[in-house]
Amino acid sequence: LAKVEIELATIPEGKNVIVKWRGKPVFVRHRTQAEIDEARETNWQSLRDPESDEQRVKKPEWLVMLGVCTHLGCVPIGESGDFGGWFCPCHGSHYDISGRARKGPAPLNLEIPTYEFNDAEGKLVI
Ligand code: FES
Repeated sequence: LAKVEIELATIPEGKNVIVKWRGKPVFVRHRTQAEIDEARETNWQSLRDPESDEQRVKKPEWLVMLGVCTHLGCVPIGESGDFGGWFCPCHGSHYDISGRARKGPAPLNLEIPTYEFNDAEGKLVI
């Protein structure tokens, strides 16, 4: 199956990129320390799809997830919404800085694809 490689050095801290993978958008965010702290301080046990931030990332500074709203599949918008993450304009779902569903009709967190880091080359491989 086709793999996509992303040069991580091209994504500054605090920025998102969207890459296409198997016809779907994948969001890659280089998170700031403040964002990581916020993601980890969230009381995740009480969320509708309870996942800790640690379960959702391999490296705290890199959040990698499918850009497909878990409600009906629209593409959420980055750096928006009430929880500092993504907002889906189709029916108003809000996701936090870990991509977890926080408000609106989305039943599940944004999905995490299978990926790995190639540390020697500074690449993310999806
Ligand atoms: Fe995103 Fe409905 S498709 S809120």
